[in-house]
Amino acid sequence: MKQQAVIKGLGFHVPERILTNQDLERLVETSDEWITTRTGIKTRHVISPGESLSDLTHGASLKALADAELPPEAITHILVATFSPESVIPSAACVLQDRLGLRGRMAQDISAACTGFLYALETARGLLALHPEAKILVCSGDVVTSRVNWEDRGTCVLFGDGCGAAVLTADDGGPRRTVLRDVALASDGALGDLLSVRGGGSGTIYKLGDPVGEEYFVQMKGREVFKHAVRSMTEVSRNLLERHGLTTDDVDVLLPHQANLRIIEAVGKKLGIPNERVFVNVHKYGNTSAASVPIALAEAVHGGFVQPGQRALLTAFGGGFTWAAALLDF
Ligand code: ACO
Repeated sequence: MKQQAVIKGLGFHVPERILTNQDLERLVETSDEWITTRTGIKTRHVISPGESLSDLTHGASLKALADAELPPEAITHILVATFSPESVIPSAACVLQDRLGLRGRMAQDISAACTGFLYALETARGLLALHPEAKILVCSGDVVTSRVNWEDRGTCVLFGDGCGAAVLTADDGGPRRTVLRDVALASDGALGDLLSVRGGGSGTIYKLGDPVGEEYFVQMKGREVFKHAVRSMTEVSRNLLERHGLTTDDVDVLLPHQANLRIIEAVGKKLGIPNERVFVNVHKYGNTSAASVPIALAEAVHGGFVQPGQRALLTAFGGGFTWAAALLDF
């Protein structure tokens, strides 16, 4: 029988500094009313000078390890899902590996934008199938605000920084938190231009002293992204449930990517899952990209929104485009 992957511990870390909608009113021509009605976002956490992604991955990892009651040395593999590593080389996973003092462990980045956590969970499941003794640290986070044009009111109000982490092992029959029952992943690169960060990639060659242009920041066709996000998260969620002979009636809790309250509510409605069973924290954190789903998961578990014996459906959508769903049995 296929080895089951289980989540042993969860944690998250966000920077201390908070930007409110009122703070943004002083930066660009916007209003608390516009941001609230279009997105549901009230505050977001952003890094301060001197802080970087590894402060977030490190903080989230220590919390997930404590939750799993495992010392850092127990970890055999490190996966970091992010589109905003603090450097191209070394990878975010290598930087984290060094900060945790885990010399010699496998360390690898995964790039799937806001869908990164679910891509990393499926990668961890594959590693556990090959190495049942593995103890895998999955970190998923972004410093989105490092790639936001603070003069573009259409994007800068939407995002925040943060990181979530999970520790996965094969099911050892011991006390366990959560069974990762299945994951479905999808992508469509033909739609990549609808949400992109082109600058910094090798498609844009900079010479020393060149200024960065708009290509360096998040570029987005908001309305198109909105439509695709709702359609794709609904579709992949249904496909995953069907694969297991389940319907949304078999789902106790929906944990969707926290991009925007209107997207979250539209997905819940299309799936026929009432608002009270849909987890929402986008008002506090904004869209934290790869961190959004694991932060939601950690808060939902530790805050009691999801209970032992229940089933959760996770779904995400992001640049690429990438999208995914996962089923967790608590
Ligand atoms: N404050 C005030 N006015 C604004 C702001 C702002 N922050 N931003 C845009 N506007 C204006 C526009 O200039 C436009 O004005 P105009 O009519 O005079 O031209 C007007 O508001 C409407 O702009 P739209 O972009 O059409 O507004 P829309 O209703 O589509 O809402 C939004 C924009 C919130 C971005 C929406 O399209 C959306 O949520 N899209 C999804 C995008 C998303 O969540 N992306 C995150 C990354 S992908 C992901 O994680 C799923």
